[in-house]
Parts: sequence; C-alpha cells; structure tokens
Amino acid sequence: MPAISDLRDAFTTHFGVTPRLIVRAPGRVNLIGEHTDYNEGFVLPIAIDRCTFVAARARPDHTVRVFSANLAAEDSFSLERIEHSTTQPWGNYVRGVVKGLHARDLPILGADLLIKSDVPIGSGLSSSASLEVAVGYALQQLNQLNLLGEELALLAQGAENSFVGVQCGIMDQFMATLGRADHALLLDCRDLSYTPIPIPPDVRVVVCDSGVRHSLVGSAYNERRAACHEAVALLKTRLPRIAALRDVTAEQLEANADLLPPAVLPRARHVVTEISRTLRAAEALEHGSLIGFGALMYESHASLRDDYAVSVPALDTLVELARDLPGCYGSRLTGGGFGGSTVSLVSTSAVASFAESLAAQYQARTGNQATVLICTPAEGVSRVATF
Ligand code: GLA
Repeated sequence: MPAISDLRDAFTTHFGVTPRLIVRAPGRVNLIGEHTDYNEGFVLPIAIDRCTFVAARARPDHTVRVFSANLAAEDSFSLERIEHSTTQPWGNYVRGVVKGLHARDLPILGADLLIKSDVPIGSGLSSSASLEVAVGYALQQLNQLNLLGEELALLAQGAENSFVGVQCGIMDQFMATLGRADHALLLDCRDLSYTPIPIPPDVRVVVCDSGVRHSLVGSAYNERRAACHEAVALLKTRLPRIAALRDVTAEQLEANADLLPPAVLPRARHVVTEISRTLRAAEALEHGSLIGFGALMYESHASLRDDYAVSVPALDTLVELARDLPGCYGSRLTGGGFGGSTVSLVSTSAVASFAESLAAQYQARTGNQATVLICTPAEGVSRVATF
C-alpha cells in the first residue's frame, strides 16, 4: 500500500496545490459464481487488500485533470464535453464515471485527481472497477453528493458498459463499493440484496496470477454474454415466464436442449449449474464445510473450462498443481477468464509452503513466472485522509 504522505506529495508535485482528500477502493477476487452476475444469478466474492487510491481536489472551473502515477500519464477534459478518448484508453474509466454523474444531473465542479493503484492490472482482480469506484467516490466527497453504495456501484458499472464498451455485470463494482472485512458476500445480482459470510480464520484466500494476458477479453466476454441472451430468447418460446438464465433449472435446460444451437447449449449449462453451485458453496462455507466448498470450486473450474470455454492452459495447470499441494481445499480460475488468475482456498497452516510450491512448480512446468497474493477480505470504498 502506498504511504498517504507519498500520495499527498505526488499530488502536490504534479498539480502545484495540496489535495483535499484521499480515498481508496479495493479490487476483488471471486470465490465462486463466475459469469453468473449478468444472468441475474448469485456470486460469492471478497474485496481484497489491494486498492486504487485517488487523491483529489476540486477546481473552480469545469476541467478535470487526471494524473496516473502508475502510467506517468495525464488526461484532461472539460465537464461540458466528455468524449471517448482513443489516445488515453485508461482515462475512459474516469471519463465514463464523470459522464454518469452528469447524466444523473448531479452538480459537480472540475477536479484534479491523482491515481495510484496496487491492484495488479489485467490479472482478473478488477483493477478497473476499483478505479471507477474510487473516482466516483472522490467526486462524491468533493461535491458533497449523496450517492448510496449501490448507486455508486451502478454508476461505475454504467461507465464500463457505455464508455469502455465491456458489458460487464455488477459484481466487481459492487465489491469495490460494499465489500466487507473478513467476509465474502453472497450477492443476488437480480435485486442486489446480499448476505455477508465470514471467512474462517483457519483458511486463507490465495490468488495466483498466471502472468498470461488475453488481448480480446472485451470482445470474447461480450460474445459469452450474447450467447446467454440468445439462450434465454430461445428457451422463452417454451418457458415464457423466464427473464434470465437464473430462472432456468438444470432439468428444464436438459428437457429443452433441442431449442439451443450446439454452441449455445454448453454456455447456458455452465451458467445454470454455476448458480446452483454458488448457493451450495455459500451454504457449505456457512457451515464450515471447507472440503465441500473446495469440491465445488473444482467443479466450477471444470465447467468454465469445458462448457463456458473461458479457461486457458496456464490456468488449468495452476488448478491441477494446486489440487496436489497439501492444505488446498479447492482452486479455480477467477474473474472473466482468458488468462488472469486462479483463486485457491488453503489452510492457514499450509499457506506459506503452498504459495512457494505453486509458483515454483508452475515455473518449472510452463517457464512462466506466477505472482502469488495471500489476500485478506477488505472493506469497500472509504476515505483514508482529509487535508
Ligand atoms: C468480469 C466482469 C464481472 C463478471 C466476471 C465473470 O470480472 O467484470 O461482471 O461477469 O467477469 O464472473
């Protein structure tokens, strides 16, 4: 985590004035419930102790200046004319959030913003959602707006959907906003109600970044989402009351399989079975059944690999290696897929040797360098300093 005084000094050096406040918003790792959020299903993520920080100060005019300390790059735009930037793609996360505030008729002044993140970028830990939420919260605080947590999450999701062009669901932005320390949240993505479930102290959540990145994440993601829509439209011809795959049982899907093209059926099967797995996993966690929980994680990975086709060999290798290590209850790819990270649930007493062996064996097997993070479930967005 960057020191608050370093963030303040970096802001002052760049903008020539001191910031008024600093906020933070966390990344997230999803324990189970993948590609279910945009099907109005359930997810079970934690917010993590890796954050995007925004140091901010209002300006008297209508200009927003944004400096990314990670990229050493600046973006600048006027509140009167917020357009998609082709030269500074990272700036679109900020532009999208500001545009969303405008679209809601919320009165805001211009601002100077300095961004610094320790959420690894592109590793499936939602660095973009943490950026969107941190910027939205900083502007809310500077302008004394009253956006509730849920509204802030929806604003941030809207920025990604309409401005960045990824038709993501609500999970990542919701966790960046409303994550709870020491807990996972069982989130119902249909009505945004949620139940916090404690993570027992005898297990740790371990993220392993494969180092593999996929450049087509956005388009492949949108394609999966389109397949789910197609499945619902076709199933509706016989099941007129369904609104989303959330409303379809595994038996109904089986009985109506003839309606779906061969490429669409496995996609729908993943979603339907994953929603049921997520509910069972939440129950297992509540009852302290870590073995039961872990078995569902392995099933989830197999379904993402075989039915949803979003895994890559590096992620499959990481899951296989984790499965054979002492103390590992379960492991699976986490986030959108096509590269990025796996998440494993590991007994606290074995976690240090697990982390070391997983990275070493992965490198020996693939030649790739993995980065392992042992995560602590963290609170959602908050203000960390006022000057
Ligand atoms: C990305 C999206 C989320 C969710 C996951 C897959 O992280 O941003 O909304 O759909 O993929 O579960």
